[in-house]
Amino acid sequence: MKNESFYVTTPIYYVNDKPHIGHAYTTMLADMLARSHRLLGHDTWFLTGTDEHGQKVQEAAEKRGVPPQEHVDTMVKRFEELWERLEITHDDFIRTTQPRHTKIVQEILQDLYHRGEIYQAEYDGLYDVRSETFVTEKDLPDGSSIDNLPEHVKKIKETNYFFKMSKYQDWLIKYIEDNPEFIQPDFRRNETLGFLRKELSDLCISRPKARLAWGIELPFDAEYVTYVWFDALVNYISAVGYRRDDEMFARRWPSQVQLIGKDILTTHTVYWPTMLKAMGVEMPKTIFAHGWWLSGRDKMSKSTGNAVNPLEYADRFGVDALRYFLMSEMSLGQDASFTEEAFVKRYNSDLANDLGNLTSRVLKMVHTHCDSKVPVACEIKEGSPEADLWKHVQTAVTEMSTQIENMRPDLGLAAVMAAVREANKYIGIRAPWKQAKEEDKQPLFETLYVSLEALRVCSALLYPVMPAKMMGLRTQIGAGEAEPAVEDVKVFGKLVAGTVLEEGEGLFPRHQKPKAPQQPKKNKKAENVVTVEEIAIDDFFKAQLKTAKVLEAVAVEGADKLLKLQLDVGGEQRQIIAGIAKHYTPEQVIGKMIIVVCNLKPAVIRGVESRGMLLAASKGKKLTLVTVDAEDFPSGAKVG
Ligand code: MSP
Repeated sequence: MKNESFYVTTPIYYVNDKPHIGHAYTTMLADMLARSHRLLGHDTWFLTGTDEHGQKVQEAAEKRGVPPQEHVDTMVKRFEELWERLEITHDDFIRTTQPRHTKIVQEILQDLYHRGEIYQAEYDGLYDVRSETFVTEKDLPDGSSIDNLPEHVKKIKETNYFFKMSKYQDWLIKYIEDNPEFIQPDFRRNETLGFLRKELSDLCISRPKARLAWGIELPFDAEYVTYVWFDALVNYISAVGYRRDDEMFARRWPSQVQLIGKDILTTHTVYWPTMLKAMGVEMPKTIFAHGWWLSGRDKMSKSTGNAVNPLEYADRFGVDALRYFLMSEMSLGQDASFTEEAFVKRYNSDLANDLGNLTSRVLKMVHTHCDSKVPVACEIKEGSPEADLWKHVQTAVTEMSTQIENMRPDLGLAAVMAAVREANKYIGIRAPWKQAKEEDKQPLFETLYVSLEALRVCSALLYPVMPAKMMGLRTQIGAGEAEPAVEDVKVFGKLVAGTVLEEGEGLFPRHQKPKAPQQPKKNKKAENVVTVEEIAIDDFFKAQLKTAKVLEAVAVEGADKLLKLQLDVGGEQRQIIAGIAKHYTPEQVIGKMIIVVCNLKPAVIRGVESRGMLLAASKGKKLTLVTVDAEDFPSGAKVG
């Protein structure tokens, strides 16, 4: 890492949109990373902001009968207020209508025009008003054609300005191949490389003012404004001093990680790097595309009105619980499903039960039996239950930092929760309620001190995800009110004996499970009939089933029932472990198109990671794989 500097960005959000859980997610993820790096003492910078130009903003302002600037000044508040409510600690918030940004965009345009990187030409083709992009016939939705265009696609003929993107195609392919960390996860890199197999065209970067006036004027032709993406992408460098403050720019750029959703992969991994190359600016180290939050199984969208409002959950369960759910439920890169049921389930099991119970039972005993003070410190004896617990706590410490580095916070959090459960088990073994009855109170004090220490370390590890709650917990256990110091998580015995503990509130009160739909009443006469519990269609759709092609298969060493399969799921490579070795040889399964459950929690089986489960039918000793009938059917197709 350059001078231990960490610069993280989110996409800048369309100011017109009502912020929903997707926007909140990327921003919380960036926040968690920024907080973690700040704790590590890295020179951290976290940028977010809003994208404020373009057709839709112009139209919305017209509809409201206000000038576009007034419109965006009103709309931006929703994002600013949401970030404050969600405890987001961005260092800067850029708006593309700010002069510090528009001026730099114009300077870049002027420079590229001057150097012949931008030229004028006539465009005669199709224009998609909805996405504000030029499209070709092959981009049209099924059922439409050049003679039967959908309403949002128009034929246009106009003079425009083009950026010579095509000349960087070969360079970009090589750059992506030589720098595997540039586009992450790997399957997204392959997606971009796939896109680059087709010939890249030049990028139209202007819009005539007659059609769209709300944009940044081209410095070399006042009849035009620049295309929103050519404006928006520049925010990542205009905000950190490009062409304005060399010292700041050298300190922040290249950024460490640019977080995006998978929907804006091409703009970030094709347009953006070629723009930077033409400007002579270094590439960001990593562009990381995460998956989508689905509403149950469906895409969230304004039109269906199924987008989850983060404020609703923050109000009902608390901001920290929302942050925890989002960070622990999504395996970065994959899509994840947001449902109230899943939320309540995770909240109750991880936060209310495991962590909440541990905290309240330990603190209750400390207040009752230790005069509300941290009991005397002890040493950990080798081979003792204390040593065992501490080992688990230290595994969580290592896992958390490794998984943050690997961009798998869900796995890091799972390791911390595993340590919390170990602490609960430890209390079960030592039974402090029995120890309290003994005359010698030393064993009781030891149990409570060790438990408090486990809580101290776990709360520090969870702090970047649940800052307010963990600070509350740390105050209650006497760990002080300062942010947790990273070095302290590896050391036993940091809590000072005799520290007086204030009684605090319960951290995570249990929530009622959302009411399950009523089961039909049992018919008395049919008492002897074996009934299968019925599930709602939504329950079925929670399983994300997809077609997958088996690329490789090998036996798992030391396990006669297991095969390790490498699958292609619509361009994404996945490894799963399947218990089919008694029925299939590796050669028999290679090339088959099977069905896998893609959103199953990853598991480690015999030391090997398995990300999903295949479908097979079995009866008695017979087993057969569920495969796809049609030949040449694509992998990655939805099943259901
Ligand atoms: N303004 C452009 C980005 C320009 S960046 C130079 C834009 N804005 S947006 O408002 O549509 O936000 C897109 C981003 O919001 C996604 O890339 C993703 O980070 C986040 N999400 C929006 N919906 C989402 C989900 N349903 N799930 C997860 N995140 C998604 O595109």
